[in-house]
Amino acid sequence: MPLLPFLFFLLLLSYSSHCDGLRFRGVGVNYGTLGDDLPSAARSIGLLRSAGGAAVKIYDANPAILRALSGSGLLASIMVPNQLIPLLASNQSAADAWVSANLLPFYPATRVRFLLVGNEILSDASIANSTWPALVPAIRNLHRSVKSRGIHNIKLGTTLAMDALAVSFPPSAASFRPDIAEPVLRPLLDFLTRSRSYFFLDAYPYFTWAQNWDSIPLDYALFQGNPSSSYLDPGTRLIYTNLLDQMLDAVVAAMCRMGYASVPIALAETGWPNAGDLDQIGANVRNAATYNRNLARRMTARPPPGTPARPGVEMPVFVFSLFNENQKPGPGTERHWGLFNPNGTPVYEVDLTGRRPTATYPPLPPAQNNTPYKGRIWCVVAGGRKTNATELGSAVSYACGQGNGTCNAIQPGGPCYWPNTLAAHANYAFNSYWQQFRKSGGTCYFNGLAAQTAKDPSYGSCKFPSLPN
Ligand SMILES: *[C@@H]1O[C@H](CO)[C@@H](O)[C@H](O)[C@H]1NC(C)=O
Ligand SMILES: *[C@@H]1O[C@H](CO)[C@@H](O)[C@H](O)[C@H]1NC(C)=O
Ligand SMILES: *[C@@H]1O[C@H](CO)[C@@H](O)[C@H](O)[C@H]1NC(C)=O
Ligand SMILES: *[C@@H]1O[C@H](CO)[C@@H](O)[C@H](O)[C@H]1NC(C)=O
Repeated sequence: MPLLPFLFFLLLLSYSSHCDGLRFRGVGVNYGTLGDDLPSAARSIGLLRSAGGAAVKIYDANPAILRALSGSGLLASIMVPNQLIPLLASNQSAADAWVSANLLPFYPATRVRFLLVGNEILSDASIANSTWPALVPAIRNLHRSVKSRGIHNIKLGTTLAMDALAVSFPPSAASFRPDIAEPVLRPLLDFLTRSRSYFFLDAYPYFTWAQNWDSIPLDYALFQGNPSSSYLDPGTRLIYTNLLDQMLDAVVAAMCRMGYASVPIALAETGWPNAGDLDQIGANVRNAATYNRNLARRMTARPPPGTPARPGVEMPVFVFSLFNENQKPGPGTERHWGLFNPNGTPVYEVDLTGRRPTATYPPLPPAQNNTPYKGRIWCVVAGGRKTNATELGSAVSYACGQGNGTCNAIQPGGPCYWPNTLAAHANYAFNSYWQQFRKSGGTCYFNGLAAQTAKDPSYGSCKFPSLPN
């Protein structure tokens, strides 16, 4: 082509990538707040910076956090709560009002760059009818609201988990779930293409590895792979050296299969848990530090590595998460994704700028649980913190109301009736509940009142059941 149009084309390109403030460098951190012992927003932002974080993603539009971010230079990603989606879809004035109340007071002093509408809503089948059809209309309304305020450097989207895929392996064979592909993902991908936004993906090699620990090498999941543990995709002949790339390219392939070859991915959540329950595998400080240090080095490399299907492509990334959050329900790993303890001490050292050489980190503790725990496990009242008798009583009533004959042994005349104390009965009830439900996803947690133990709590004629793992 003649020289002049070519130069003009180059200018256009550099304008779009540099002048809108979207250029995303460095690694961000997800700042979840499901803890009753977390530091102030200002202190939390300070900790995030001390780890080299370049951006912060929050799960709402918390005004204290957005104020603390003001003038910090950190990029911010905010979120619209799931339950507002139907309203925002049906009513443009409600979308305008949301933007006025939650974004405008802080923007542009707080450098909001992503506005995410809902969190993994396509993973929640209970809102399939009420909320899924409203997702893209809500995004469109919010997009209109933002544009009508003259704001052009905020990208909109929604976060999706890997369960958006029906098939994810080999990566080249991946496809989206049929229940969401046409009704939700096609209009979403249309919107993302037209607005030049991202497919915001939550991808955890930890979960994939933990479910397939006997076939996937741990080093492959931790970016420690060597050529002998690489994977060759038979469909594309592309070679994978780590599990994250394999998962990302599965999403790329699923998008391509629907005709969307150019929507970039932003990694909205990834990470590795630093601790978990006895029956959870691979959740430890050594693996967590290794994963996040290697992730930071990789994601900040210049030029960016991209993935085998999209070499050299830059990708925004947010590590999950800033803190260990003590009020997250579910198995123990859920409360142990943090870079920091709630008191502000680091769980392990990590430099998210990716510049610190590996050899300069202090030695990591050995990994204790990289293979499944072999012995029997029971579920009893958690030691350590003061238990609230009212809460313990309600938890026991709940446990005893589930399953079959769960609390027969602690009825008068039963072998575990004595000692007739709430604590002793709670031990029995928690264990009896959990042994019945653990195979179907029941957790030994009860809002922090219960924990797993390897020590058999049986006494005298009172036997606590325990299934083999
Ligand atoms: C739309 O939202 C506005 C602002 O929140 C509210 O005043 C109005 O009643 C809503 N209209 C409908 C039809 O829900
Ligand atoms: C959604 O609607 C379908 C068809 O009306 C119904 O079969 C299904 O149970 C509903 N799902 C939920 C979660 O309400
Ligand atoms: C115990 O928990 C109940 C219910 O959550 C609460 O109302 C009560 O204040 C708590 N008691 C103490 C001593 O913390
Ligand atoms: C309780 O018993 C019923 C009927 O025998 C059975 O279908 C159900 O699965 C049992 N529930 C549990 C938790 O074992």
